[in-house]
Amino acid sequence: MWSTNPLTERLGLKWPILQAPMGSASTPALAAAVSNAGGLGGLGMWGRSADQAARRIAGFRQQSGSSLNVNYPIWPDPHYAPEASTAMRQHLQVQYEAHGLGRVPEPTGEVSDVGPEHVALLLETRPEVVSFHFGLPDPEVIRALKSAGIFILSSATTVAEARLLEERGVDAIIAQGTEAGGHRATFTAVEIGTQPGLFSLLPQVVDAVRVPVIAAGGVADGRTSAAAFMLGASAVQVGTAFLRCDEADVRDAHRAALAEANDACTVVTDVISGRPCRYIRNNLIDDLVASGLKPLPVPAQQSLTSRLSDTGDREWTALTAGQSAALARAMTAAELIERLGDETTRRLRAFA
Ligand SMILES: Cc1cc2nc3c(=O)[nH]c(=O)nc-3n(C[C@H](O)[C@H](O)[C@H](O)COP(=O)(O)O)c2cc1C
Repeated sequence: MWSTNPLTERLGLKWPILQAPMGSASTPALAAAVSNAGGLGGLGMWGRSADQAARRIAGFRQQSGSSLNVNYPIWPDPHYAPEASTAMRQHLQVQYEAHGLGRVPEPTGEVSDVGPEHVALLLETRPEVVSFHFGLPDPEVIRALKSAGIFILSSATTVAEARLLEERGVDAIIAQGTEAGGHRATFTAVEIGTQPGLFSLLPQVVDAVRVPVIAAGGVADGRTSAAAFMLGASAVQVGTAFLRCDEADVRDAHRAALAEANDACTVVTDVISGRPCRYIRNNLIDDLVASGLKPLPVPAQQSLTSRLSDTGDREWTALTAGQSAALARAMTAAELIERLGDETTRRLRAFA
């Protein structure tokens, strides 16, 4: 049976389906609904303090007794000279004024790492899974989490990255194809144009490592999910399709854009956050690309553009989405898990 394997047994899942931890879009209600339906719910901790992380984990635990994945993006201190932001701030001032936002502030944001408070929180609350994006934290953090019995995941965008993650002790690898919505997980400065799509990446990663491989990028219905299992995946991680679920914290402008998405509406760019990420293309992206200005490093650039996203103007909002956005359907998270499970079963049965 496709839905049972060592990974699902280790994590206590009915379905080998992970809801991608997606920053603030992944609410405790979304993660709990997914885990209660037999998938693995994920909470993104992008830029959160340990106190905020604790509240989110507690929110999940109030709603679900099932497994949880807590996720941390890892990035270095965004070093830049203060004057490096001047041209970008001047450029964005036009749109700030057009949207009644006043002066563009100084950029904010620091290093994102799993500091001692976060490690203490994780050791106390013991989520079943801790996952990372953009590589891994220090080896002692991994050792501490693993010795507490926590299962470790991280994403690879190439075979070389998958091998590095395996060497550094991850328990399973997420192979992230270029179709994926959200930030490219790459942590070895691989040029974006050379990164493979999931159809090519997945079987090559499966051949290269011994740990289970989880497929991410473009999986949104039973067809795409079944294809991932046929290519050797032990599970799928689904992001964009969950953005249309009731429980996701997604702005109205973003939901409207997702409902009208097509196969060719997304683009990978670093102009919104400072790191390559896939979004539905709009004026915000076109304007920043045309400016020719170098974005500030993540999260400084994001601190400048995120205020525009708060205005509700679809053309100036970060519309994060993957290439399968048009396959995403509006429903509850529990319905999506059941649909993905049933549709994948039917698809794979057709080939039995
Ligand atoms: C809105 C959004 C936010 C995301 N944020 C994160 C994140 O914080 N951490 C992470 O590991 N992955 C994040 N991802 C990437 C997912 O883990 C995954 O690679 C991707 O969603 C899979 O492709 P799909 O969107 O086509 O399903 C995000 C994806 C989306 C769509």
